[in-house]
Amino acid sequence: MSEPTPIKSSEIILRKLDDTMDVSSFDCGIEELNGFLRENALEDFRRRMNVTYVLLHAKRVIAYYCILADRIDTKVDPIRRSVRDRLKRKSDYRYTSFPSIKIGRLAVDKDFQSANHCDVHLGQLIVSGLKFQYATERQFGCRYLTVDAMNNDRTISFYKRNGFIPMIAKPSDNPEDTIPMLFDLATMQGNIA
Ligand SMILES: CC(C)(COP(=O)(O)OP(=O)(O)OC[C@H]1O[C@@H](n2cnc3c(N)ncnc32)[C@H](O)[C@@H]1OP(=O)(O)O)[C@@H](O)C(=O)NCCC(=O)NCCS
Repeated sequence: MSEPTPIKSSEIILRKLDDTMDVSSFDCGIEELNGFLRENALEDFRRRMNVTYVLLHAKRVIAYYCILADRIDTKVDPIRRSVRDRLKRKSDYRYTSFPSIKIGRLAVDKDFQSANHCDVHLGQLIVSGLKFQYATERQFGCRYLTVDAMNNDRTISFYKRNGFIPMIAKPSDNPEDTIPMLFDLATMQGNIA
């Protein structure tokens, strides 16, 4: 296959996934995530389970993510002590559950991972956009961005580099397990503690 032409971030548009879009050639290297986009994303949308957005360049899907409502329950969820302390610090002490938005899935086409053939890091661009949107929009209460990250070094370091912290102390050795991680949107408006 020929090398893709480098693209500029100004040429990329963000759209909600719909059935006119061709997702057949999207390949992030993980078949489960390719398959979700091809087979499940629109059905999940119809069932109100999550909403998928795509980054398009000249009609080609170069990245996607889906989001859904979430909640962190400090009484139920397995949360490591330092995270529990952080969640319940000072002014937050009276809350036992925290409204959140979950990044259900996020993937960048292999051709464009690590800012290859593109002038921006697409993964970073998506996460920064979500942080900004949910920290500023204020249409509903939303304190954290969460993700159940795939249990591999690359994915975990991607989310850590983007400010997420693991909610559990010790990751499982099983690569099939996911690692719950969170980002505090309140840090975007200064320290409110
Ligand atoms: C994980 C994933 C979404 C990251 O997307 P991405 O656009 O490649 O991410 P970034 O470009 O922000 O980061 C990737 C690399 O760029 C580097 N990088 C990030 N920001 C940088 C910056 N400002 N300057 C220099 N390098 C930077 C990182 O160190 C990283 O290097 P590495 O791959 O050698 O570790 C993407 O690799 C992917 O789709 N993977 C398969 C699916 C997946 O694992 N999804 C997560 C499911 S939870």
